[in-house]
Amino acid sequence: MEEIKTLLEEYLNDSLYQMVISGPCAREGKKETKGHSLHQPAQKRKVRPLLQKNELLFQVSSYDKSQVFHENLTKEEAIEALAEDTLRHFSQIQIEGKEKGASVLVSKKGKVTLKRKIHKDAEKRQGADLSHNRTKRYLLKEGIPVPFLVDLGVQTPQGKVVASRYDKFRQINRFLEFIADVLPALPTDRPVHIVDFGCGKSYLTFALYYYLHELQGRSLRVTGLDRKADVIAACNGLAQKYGYEGLRFLQGEIADYEQDGPVDLVVTLHACDTATDYALYQAMK
Ligand SMILES: C[S@@+](CC[C@H](N)C(=O)[O-])C[C@H]1O[C@@H](n2cnc3c(N)ncnc32)[C@H](O)[C@@H]1O
Repeated sequence: MEEIKTLLEEYLNDSLYQMVISGPCAREGKKETKGHSLHQPAQKRKVRPLLQKNELLFQVSSYDKSQVFHENLTKEEAIEALAEDTLRHFSQIQIEGKEKGASVLVSKKGKVTLKRKIHKDAEKRQGADLSHNRTKRYLLKEGIPVPFLVDLGVQTPQGKVVASRYDKFRQINRFLEFIADVLPALPTDRPVHIVDFGCGKSYLTFALYYYLHELQGRSLRVTGLDRKADVIAACNGLAQKYGYEGLRFLQGEIADYEQDGPVDLVVTLHACDTATDYALYQAMK
C-alpha cells in the first residue's frame, strides 16, 4: 500500500494528464480503511486534475458497464482512496504526466511492481499534446505570469499554465489573435473604445486590455457588460487591483446598453439565447 501511496503523492499534481486504473480483479482479504470510498463497482477509473475555485482537485471518473460516475477529491482523499481501491479491485495503473509517467502492476496476491519512465522529449510532448505545438507563437507566453490569469486560476504565480486550464489559455490566445488581425482597422489618432457584451468572468476582457494596453501600449477604453451583478462587482475589483484605469465593467442587459461616445469594436463570445442578436444590433448602431 505504501509504495502506491508514495507514487500517487508524487504524480497527483497539475502536471498529470491522466491516470487510468484498470484490470478489475477481486482481491478479498485486504482490509478496507475508513477513508473516502469510491463509487463501486467499477470496471475502470480515470483520474485527472481539476481546478475548482482555485483549489486543485482530482476528478475520478468511474466506468461501469453502462455509466460513468464522477467524484472530485482532494489530493489527500485521492491518495487514500485510490491506493486502497487499487489493491482491493484492480491489477494495473497507467500514469501519464507532462514530464514523466509510470506503470504499476499488482499481482493476484497483491505484490506491487512499479516502473517509472521519464520522457526525454518532455518539451516536445507538451507542445504536441497540449497545444498542437503552438506554444511558442502564443501572444501571451507560458512562463510569464499575467496577474489576471493567476487570479483566475489559469496560471500559477510562476507563470506555469495549470494543466487543467490549458484549454482556457489556448482559447484566450486564439481570441487575441483575432483582435491582432483587426488592429490595423482601428483608429490610431484617439483612444479606441471596445465593448465586450456578455463578458461573464471576463477572461477575454482582461486579456484584451492586457494585450492592447500593457503589451502594445495603446491608449484605449474597454467596457465589459454583463447582467450578473456579482460577477461585475468581482471584475471591477480585479480591474482596480491591477490599476487598469481604462477598464470598467457595467451591470445590465445588452439590449439596454447606451453608448457614451463612439464604440470602435464590439466583441461577444459564448453569449446565450438572444444575447448575440442584441449584441449584433448594438454593434450595428
Ligand atoms: C457563457 S458566458 C460567456 C462569458 C464570456 N464572454 C466568455 O466567453 O468567457 C455568457 C455570459 O453572457 C451573459 N448574458 C447572457 N445574456 C445576456 C444579456 N441579454 N445581457 C447581458 N448579459 C447577458 C451571461 O450572464 C453570461 O455571463
